[in-house]
Amino acid sequence: MNRLVVGGQWGDEGKGKIVDILAQNADVIVRYQGGSNAGHTVCVGDKKFILHLIPSGILHENKICVIGNGVVVDPKSLLEEKKILEDLGIEVEGRLFISEKAHLVMPYHKEFDAKKEAVLGENSIGTTKRGIGPTYTDKHARVGIRICDLENPDVFKEKLNANIKFINKLCELYEIEPFDANKIFDEYMDYAQKIKPFIRNTVYYLNGVFKNGRSILFEGAQGSLLDVDFGTYPFVTSSHPTVGGAFSGTGLPHKAIDRVMIVVKAYTTRVGNGPFPTELTDEVGNYIRDNGAEYGATTGRPRRCGWLDLVVVKYAAMINGADEIALTKLDVLDGLDEIKVCVGYEYQGRKIGFIPSQLEEFAKCKPIYKTFKGWDKTAGITDYEDLPENAKRYLEYISMFTGVRFAFISTGAERKQTIEL
Ligand code: GDP
Ligand code: IMO
Ligand code: MG
Repeated sequence: MNRLVVGGQWGDEGKGKIVDILAQNADVIVRYQGGSNAGHTVCVGDKKFILHLIPSGILHENKICVIGNGVVVDPKSLLEEKKILEDLGIEVEGRLFISEKAHLVMPYHKEFDAKKEAVLGENSIGTTKRGIGPTYTDKHARVGIRICDLENPDVFKEKLNANIKFINKLCELYEIEPFDANKIFDEYMDYAQKIKPFIRNTVYYLNGVFKNGRSILFEGAQGSLLDVDFGTYPFVTSSHPTVGGAFSGTGLPHKAIDRVMIVVKAYTTRVGNGPFPTELTDEVGNYIRDNGAEYGATTGRPRRCGWLDLVVVKYAAMINGADEIALTKLDVLDGLDEIKVCVGYEYQGRKIGFIPSQLEEFAKCKPIYKTFKGWDKTAGITDYEDLPENAKRYLEYISMFTGVRFAFISTGAERKQTIEL
């Protein structure tokens, strides 16, 4: 059974925890898009791991992890992450393969990401400044430099020199120091030596795994509403977290995915800018942020918090063809008197049940809520029958509204704090 795990909201739904659980029954875990903008947290006992580029499956011994061709790789960040894992006693060598087709995040991508955000000021996207947008821009403009170029210094140098000419013209515009191609060359050749053992033609490798009937787990990063096509454009990331990205980001055929699971938080969060109809800027929002420790795993930014938006979740279920939901962080709502879910929007005096494509319209949508009675405690519960009746009513409504069954309900950050259905 090959599963795909994808975020059903604006990211940080708890994908890391769910992938960690599912990885036990997979042979190979593959990331297919994004880069080190992702922050996937896995808690095992009293240890907490935050993965950015390396699939969360790495925490299970004997599992192979693949960074697919659709991912953009910052070698500096990759090597730092590898070192953190190794210092914790987790073997990475021999278990991690990086696609030779994956594009490299270069120093100028990171600098331009930050610089562009600064210039945009209050119109900025609120990116993670990891160079993600500029790297995908170069990929699609066909001037990107790929992992395979690291293996051929002459080719690497030629491509780098050609890019730097243009990049340094932009530096004049941005009024920043020009980049030194020789310095970047030396830095990246050093990375090349360190990364060499991990480089593979992962398209052939993964197809071999698939043909041999071994099981593959696809780990999505970000969330469906951050998808460059289907998300709240332009306040999105530059890749395709949704199901289509898994094919273009790995080279596996559509038949290679048997089941799609969307991960949905029991409420909504968002980091960065852009419309968020159910956002709570009052003490309930603060309660959720405090109780859920809603601070970015990559940037440490406080996450914007609000009620669960079922219009968003139903849309994510639709575009991904979701078979199952993993609902996370139910325990964070423990202790609230009442809990609301958004079941539609009011726009220009009428009720709508969809997300308008024009962001200006979406920004004007007012949530229409259904209110549920709160409950005392769900934290740590591992059996559905032990959940408070009001929590069950909440869950049943979510499943009914979206038309998707639950596979997991998560009641705490720990691996074990999970109800499997
Ligand atoms: P991801 O990017 O989708 O993997 O999610 P993040 O790791 O960025 O954010 C999810 C946060 O919630 C992490 O700190 C997790 O440890 C934590 N978490 C996951 N599931 C649960 C849960 O059911 N309850 C609580 N309280 N925390 C959870
Ligand atoms: P995980 O995988 C939440 C957001 C940024 C910003 C927008 C564009 O942990 O769920 P980018 O740096 O990608 O160009 O930023 O996307 N963003 C995320 N938000 N979780 C993430 O990843 C995110 N990755 C990017 O905050 O709004
Ligand atoms: Mg995250």
